[in-house]
Amino acid sequence: MTDQTVIPARNYPHYPAIMTPEQLQAMREYARRDPDGFWLQQAARIHWCSRPSIGFSGSFEKDVSISWFADGTLNASVCCIDRHLTDRGDQVALISQREAQGRSESLTYKDLHERVCRLANALTHLGVEKGHRVAICLPMVSEAVVSMLACARIGAVHVVLFGGFSAEGIAERLVDSGAVAVITANMAWRGNKPVPYKQSMDEALRIAGGNSGVHSVLVVRTSEEAVPMLPGRDYDFHDFVDNFEVDFVPVVMRAEEPLFMLYTSGSTGKPKAVVHATGGYMVWAAYTMGMVYTHQPGDVLWCTADVAWITGHTSVVYGPLANGGTTMISDSLPTYPQPGRWFELIDANKVTMLFTAPTAVRAMMAEGDAVVNRHKLDSLRLLGVAGEPISPDAWLWYHDVVGKKRCPVVDTWWQTETAGIVLGPIPGVQSLKPGSATMPLPGVEMVITDPQGKVEQGAAEGALCIARSWPGQARTIWGDHARFCQTYFAMAPGLYFTGDGAKRDEDGYYWITGRMDDVINIAGHRLGTAEVEDALGEDHRIVECAAVGVDHPVKGQALVVFAILRKDAATGLDEAGISRLVVKLIGRYAAPEAVYLVPDLPRTRSGKIVRRLLRKIASGDTNELGDLSALSDQSIVPMLRERVWGQM
Ligand code: WT7
Repeated sequence: MTDQTVIPARNYPHYPAIMTPEQLQAMREYARRDPDGFWLQQAARIHWCSRPSIGFSGSFEKDVSISWFADGTLNASVCCIDRHLTDRGDQVALISQREAQGRSESLTYKDLHERVCRLANALTHLGVEKGHRVAICLPMVSEAVVSMLACARIGAVHVVLFGGFSAEGIAERLVDSGAVAVITANMAWRGNKPVPYKQSMDEALRIAGGNSGVHSVLVVRTSEEAVPMLPGRDYDFHDFVDNFEVDFVPVVMRAEEPLFMLYTSGSTGKPKAVVHATGGYMVWAAYTMGMVYTHQPGDVLWCTADVAWITGHTSVVYGPLANGGTTMISDSLPTYPQPGRWFELIDANKVTMLFTAPTAVRAMMAEGDAVVNRHKLDSLRLLGVAGEPISPDAWLWYHDVVGKKRCPVVDTWWQTETAGIVLGPIPGVQSLKPGSATMPLPGVEMVITDPQGKVEQGAAEGALCIARSWPGQARTIWGDHARFCQTYFAMAPGLYFTGDGAKRDEDGYYWITGRMDDVINIAGHRLGTAEVEDALGEDHRIVECAAVGVDHPVKGQALVVFAILRKDAATGLDEAGISRLVVKLIGRYAAPEAVYLVPDLPRTRSGKIVRRLLRKIASGDTNELGDLSALSDQSIVPMLRERVWGQM
């Protein structure tokens, strides 16, 4: 790591840094010396009904229990709306750019308050109560933000589901979460492709049948298309909600009561919902977004993430609103109806902070500089990325061409489980190294361990772990605390294991090397290869399969599936059929890049599939296959090469 580019913080003289490097250092030291004191001080960033006096309680040992601010009470919608009504009630809280309608809608904090209260009343009328789960499956429209905050207002736990999940995927999550109500749309446009939200939801509810507790479905009409409505269950969102009162007394929540749960993928088959607690999550959202995306009056933050991901929760909704900022959402695509669409929207809405995924940066880069240069982009002052590794090349392109070398680029590393930024620079304060997510925010005790879980000092490479709880940490996996302990705390007892590998250089900067488990990242969407294998394994025509991730120039990674078909069931299932099956069982985002039908898979003598070899062969990396001595049958290698590359 000698050829690193370092861009000193002083290169951004116009960027209003929030502190000096010395103050940042002092903050780190205070957090180390007195973690509870530090976090109780940070807790003052949000509005509490009663301020907490207790910091952390619990332990990473044995059964793992995590609790923050146990004696504090609050309501997250008050933190995000009510507390701003006197000072900035008329300031725009939310800009929603509706591509299908070709217009943008702006809601002030007062408007947001009104809409959230109406929906809170409507949901209450339908019987939704504190602690109930409400599933939200919506495109990027203002109702998605309103729905999350309305759930928060009544103390219901929101479960936002991605519109790209298949009906099967939605059904599984509705049943697992025990949702009682659903908020969805009739349909949405993704570019020129219609996405049938209501139809998928109807299908999901049919599949879930008696296993689902959903009694009510609110349908946001995003277009004129009519959809079948089931009387007594389905309601037109606005026709129904807009009649309710514009005030709703927020339910007071104890800090540890859940705010939301969110499904994510892991290295075992079933998707899991991680649970986030109200108090710790809100402090963490306000703290992390306040440190890295500190807004000034007039700032517009556009985080392009879908609301169904953790970024969509923390960087679109809770973080910016808790801090009194203006957040923008949009159902647009970067290259539709023409390349450069996002740049048009940046100019039109005077976006000052753009936060997107490396895959979008690579897609913009592929369109060429001329597309960027047709736009002014002079409102931008900060650029951010998260979700997957960004190469120094793409980082520098984003910095030089989009940001004209004026805007710091913040590469932030975090996870659904961490709820907010863990690694990331304080812009204008820390020097930047393209390709590195910098270092942990003050208060985060990040460590790197060897494969046995021994903590390494200084420059090192190994497993990325966190040694002490932080307020935004996920508390459990819904309905399966044992899996929570096993997934995150078994690798190195007493440490939270992130699942990622990383290097730490001589300056203390972290460089993420990728997942160490069988999780892949397709265009920022996290997918467990075991999830694909389990889903396909249920089809009786498939004897066995193995799914692996390979590098992809734009998506970062892509999925490749190897499958063994049953000989007696050659029922016409082919590569394309398997691909369709993955889309049907999991969702469009999981569509494989390639499927190979094979007579067998490479195995060790104990029968374990050697995915490392499959990955290499699928990537075309055929010269460097590594040590093959563990294979039970060497003849498998030429067979696989032939299947994939058509060569012996
Ligand atoms: C996984 C978490 C940013 C939150 C949204 C994704 C990968 C995340 C980075 C980054 C390299 C990154 C990790 C992590 N990841 N940010 N800046 N550089 N890799 O949340 O869906 O839970 O995925 O995304 O592998 O474990 P998620």
